[in-house]
Amino acid sequence: MLLPIADVLTPTQVAQARAMLDAADWADGRITAGYQSAKAKDNAQLPEDSPAAREVGVLILDALSRNSTFFSAALPKRIYPPLFNRYAGGQSFGYHVDNAIRYDRSRGGVDPVRTDVSATLFLSAPDEYDGGELIIEDTFGTQSVKLPAGHMVLYPGTSLHKVTPVTRGARVASFFWMQSMVRDDGHRRLMFELDVSIRRLTADVPDHPALLQLTGVYHNLLRQWAET
Ligand code: NI
Repeated sequence: MLLPIADVLTPTQVAQARAMLDAADWADGRITAGYQSAKAKDNAQLPEDSPAAREVGVLILDALSRNSTFFSAALPKRIYPPLFNRYAGGQSFGYHVDNAIRYDRSRGGVDPVRTDVSATLFLSAPDEYDGGELIIEDTFGTQSVKLPAGHMVLYPGTSLHKVTPVTRGARVASFFWMQSMVRDDGHRRLMFELDVSIRRLTADVPDHPALLQLTGVYHNLLRQWAET
């Protein structure tokens, strides 16, 4: 499932994030690429221990913790701390598949995170740069994604994807992965659609007795599929 989520960050939060990121020390993006993707990758990235990366990462995780659409779509079990990249001057990232497992070293240990769901949170407005589309190929066909600053896209970690060359301005974004409680993308999609329809019914016919039953179905399916 490919899902855009609007307004994950407010314009004020985007401005705060950008002030910190624009003043930070960026490094060559190949530092986090696997062997195969290093050949395709040409961008700048903030080192994971950079104070700006940590501070803006906390801002993003805090916003996500209050975002019910995000929770419903990703059913996150473990979120890899947000990373940040910047493309300018023709930089791009060719087609690749992300590593299946990332090791989160942020809490002192080494926690493996299976990358079931990928996220890109746009931190530049589309009129700040030309190019820089995120192209995602999956069972839903090929999709081109370029969203307003503060908006985010979720897509399956299994998909082939690339970022087209940025030919004017700079594209700053956060990207990260999460391990979902529900590993299978098709199952996650069903859970999300069921949740969305229950919420619509709750708004339109709040006292209908079938809502109780449907809510029970949702939770009992989650009980079947969730790994906690
Ligand atoms: Ni990638």
